[in-house]
Amino acid sequence: MKIDIISYKLPNHTPSPKQECGWVALHASKAVGWNSLIFESYDTIKFANAFVEEEYRGNGIYKMLWDARWEYCKENFKGWKVISYCLPTTLQFYKDRGFTEVYTSTLVESTIDC
Ligand SMILES: CC(C)(COP(=O)(O)OP(=O)(O)OC[C@H]1O[C@@H](n2cnc3c(N)ncnc32)[C@H](O)[C@@H]1OP(=O)(O)O)[C@@H](O)C(=O)NCCC(=O)NCCS
Repeated sequence: MKIDIISYKLPNHTPSPKQECGWVALHASKAVGWNSLIFESYDTIKFANAFVEEEYRGNGIYKMLWDARWEYCKENFKGWKVISYCLPTTLQFYKDRGFTEVYTSTLVESTIDC
């Protein structure tokens, strides 16, 4: 399967907090996966919004997107801290890449009254 990874909104100047940029995986020009990073502060980046369309999973697309984001960070943000809120399915993936577990968070939800 031929997948192209393209980036969007990469900052041209020193990024401001809350600025976001990301990567999209294209298969035959269709977006089938994406991820992003958010500049949390002037020395911390948050990895976020990783998603691969269900029928395309298990083909290494998440890994390709992750690697593209990581290479960009290594080239441009040496010494910065990187954080990410992982699901159990991706925790080991992060640990294999040198990330350490800090704490576990809980997903909460509600429905807005009609
Ligand atoms: C998680 C997700 C992005 C993985 O996408 P994918 O393209 O299928 O992942 P890859 O094929 O690149 O797999 C990369 C690694 O992720 C891990 N992984 C992915 N999905 C997994 C699952 N359901 N269970 C266990 N490990 C999983 C594996 O370690 C795999 O490494 P391996 O190839 O050495 O086994 C995809 O399942 C998804 O979009 N899920 C819903 C949203 C989500 O969970 N986002 C992640 C938030 S942290």
